[in-house]
Amino acid sequence: MASSIVVTGSYVQDLTFMLPEFPTAGQTLIGEFKTGPGGKGSNQAVAAARTGVRTAFIGATGNDAFAQVAKDFHKGEGIDSRLAPQADQATGTAAILVNDRGENEIVVALGANNFLSPEDVPESLVAEAQILVSQLECNLEAAEHALKLARKHEVRTLLNPAPMRDDFPPSMLNSVDILVPNETEFAHLIRARFPEKHGSFEEASIQSLTSEQLHHLCRDFGVPTFIITLGGNGCFVSTEDRYFEIPSITGIEVVDTTGAGDAFVGGLSSGLVQFDGDIEKAVRYASVVAGLSVTKFGTAPAMPSQAEIEKEIQTQGLSFK
Ligand code: RIB
Repeated sequence: MASSIVVTGSYVQDLTFMLPEFPTAGQTLIGEFKTGPGGKGSNQAVAAARTGVRTAFIGATGNDAFAQVAKDFHKGEGIDSRLAPQADQATGTAAILVNDRGENEIVVALGANNFLSPEDVPESLVAEAQILVSQLECNLEAAEHALKLARKHEVRTLLNPAPMRDDFPPSMLNSVDILVPNETEFAHLIRARFPEKHGSFEEASIQSLTSEQLHHLCRDFGVPTFIITLGGNGCFVSTEDRYFEIPSITGIEVVDTTGAGDAFVGGLSSGLVQFDGDIEKAVRYASVVAGLSVTKFGTAPAMPSQAEIEKEIQTQGLSFK
């Protein structure tokens, strides 16, 4: 059976340390440790699959114990997992610090993800999808190739430009229908695209703009739909004919915000499939998925189930009719 959502990108084994506050340079702190499946691409695929929409994942792992964790985890999640083995590489790993407020700091070693190749992207899988999702946590040539293949087959494309990199090729945006940056990534995109006019644009600069000004900045990129995620402040949506804001869900207890952006992207992809491309409904749905993901510890394991999402939709008094 074809997968409606195809995610191409990273699998990373998360090595997470929990501690009251982040250490300062030169400081050693005692914390607690947990490990689990992560990686932005894989997390997004898990978030989408748990909503009940058939999902495939294209990525790369090394020849080590973490590769087996990835295979077993994807199998358990019912994901059509296409992991290209990279014999001489280590599976990607991330060192994650989470403090008592649920904030995080992350360092990723891409390992095998760097060696995902355009040939590892099966064209027939992409051609049969409704939406192709990618991020920047893997080989960028492979990511761009997947986006181009999707375009060729008139499959909707979604790019989450995370983590933002200095070698991000601007040409990639030519194949993107929906761009989902967070505030930091958006500021980077603005500086890179308009160095003379907005060379000192920072994350905080977004707050000083009116919604209309922000919309015009988004329009200058030529990407049909922009969704800027604003953490606990919800998100800003700019389409070719309108702009609007969607708040985060309220009344939740934040345990760990790591992977919330991935939950949003996975939920958004699922929402686009479930609501026949209705962007407003899809964004509202994504906000519920992201909101629930921060109430549990971890990244992929914290993605909510279909039943949890439906319950929260009722609690929040939302309707998707
Ligand atoms: O977005 C969160 C993810 O980023 C983590 O799972 C970690 O693997 C890093 O890639």
